[in-house]
Amino acid sequence: MTKLEKIVLSYSGGLDTSIILKWLQETYGCEVVTFTADLGQGEELEPARAKAEMSGVKDIRIVDLREEFVRDFVFPMLRANALYEGQYLLGSSIARPLIAKHLVGIAQEVGAHAVAHGATGKGNDQLRFELAVNALDPSIKVIAPWRQWNIRSRMQLLEYAEKHRIPVPSDKRGEAPFSIDANLLHTSTEGKSLENPAEVAPDHVYQRTVDPVDAPDTPEIITIGFERGDPVSVNGKSMTPAALLTELNGLGGRHGIGRLDLVENRFIGMKSRGIYETPGGTILLTAHRGIESITLDRAAAHLKDEIMPRYAELIYNGFWFAPEREMLQALIDQSQAFVSGEVTLRLYKGSASVISRTSPCSLYSADLVTFEESAIAFDHHDAEGFIRLNGLRLRNWAARNGR
Ligand code: ARG
Repeated sequence: MTKLEKIVLSYSGGLDTSIILKWLQETYGCEVVTFTADLGQGEELEPARAKAEMSGVKDIRIVDLREEFVRDFVFPMLRANALYEGQYLLGSSIARPLIAKHLVGIAQEVGAHAVAHGATGKGNDQLRFELAVNALDPSIKVIAPWRQWNIRSRMQLLEYAEKHRIPVPSDKRGEAPFSIDANLLHTSTEGKSLENPAEVAPDHVYQRTVDPVDAPDTPEIITIGFERGDPVSVNGKSMTPAALLTELNGLGGRHGIGRLDLVENRFIGMKSRGIYETPGGTILLTAHRGIESITLDRAAAHLKDEIMPRYAELIYNGFWFAPEREMLQALIDQSQAFVSGEVTLRLYKGSASVISRTSPCSLYSADLVTFEESAIAFDHHDAEGFIRLNGLRLRNWAARNGR
């Protein structure tokens, strides 16, 4: 094993990463710097400091990344209307490259040659962390204790904690808990009874949205303002990216918006079933498509839709910092120059529906589309010729087929 001077650990303060912290100190006998990111997971972060201090950590970093997360990661992804396998808004996938970026930044600052994370060998998250580190600083080594140590079961994990006097909260003593990942964009829940896709998810897995059945009987009307593809205001009030997403999470959660029960294909090879709650993100996707509907040219919009699955898959698979993702991003960003205006939506019992849209850069022409007499010259005979030529090959084909 190469001797390491320092390791920067992505540390939540939870049981698993507390055990990892101890294991790193024991195994490598070197200083561990902890990094805890506030991504809006809604957890107190000060306990993480206290726990790291108790474990003898001298350099403890706790950083509020909420604005950077939404501005530089979530919003660029929303400009693409990105959905993995048609449904997943990529809430965990998009958070990992940001965490990796800061792990690398701290490692460079303190002169550490390695970073460590608590993702397991079966999931997507290890790929997202490690591919990002590779792309940002190839000299940095990544340590993934879950792939290295001999702990193979929950029991062994708890034994290790006991032996090293790491406090185990009472709710973590029994059977394995759900695997939950939360941030400003979503909460994802996997494991336990959810591992059987035939089993209906119990009500208590939902943490930030009400059951649509219990949502208010009166709809709520909201207006979202967009500038160059990004949301900038809610009901006329300008907000920072993180504040805006927080506001929409509250509204969406109250109306039961953004629940998803999904079986997806992990990059590593297996199918997995998860419950996602993405209230604000779901509203924003609908609203963004609404503003694009009047501001994007047809061919531009269709090209975006063609590349979207590819772009979403890159993010899902962990290639955020890869050249092809950046190339696609440049294309997407260029398309957004005129995606400005306002979209009004109705939130009601689990759905967010666009009910009106306006834009100073609208391409929509009532004069052009109207059934009534119009000022704009449109020669109906042109349509006749257009259809005749488009039908030319079909008539030829049908005649050959003997129809
Ligand atoms: N399956 C989702 C994804 O790959 C969520 C993963 C969340 N991570 C977790 N530790 N529960 O994006």
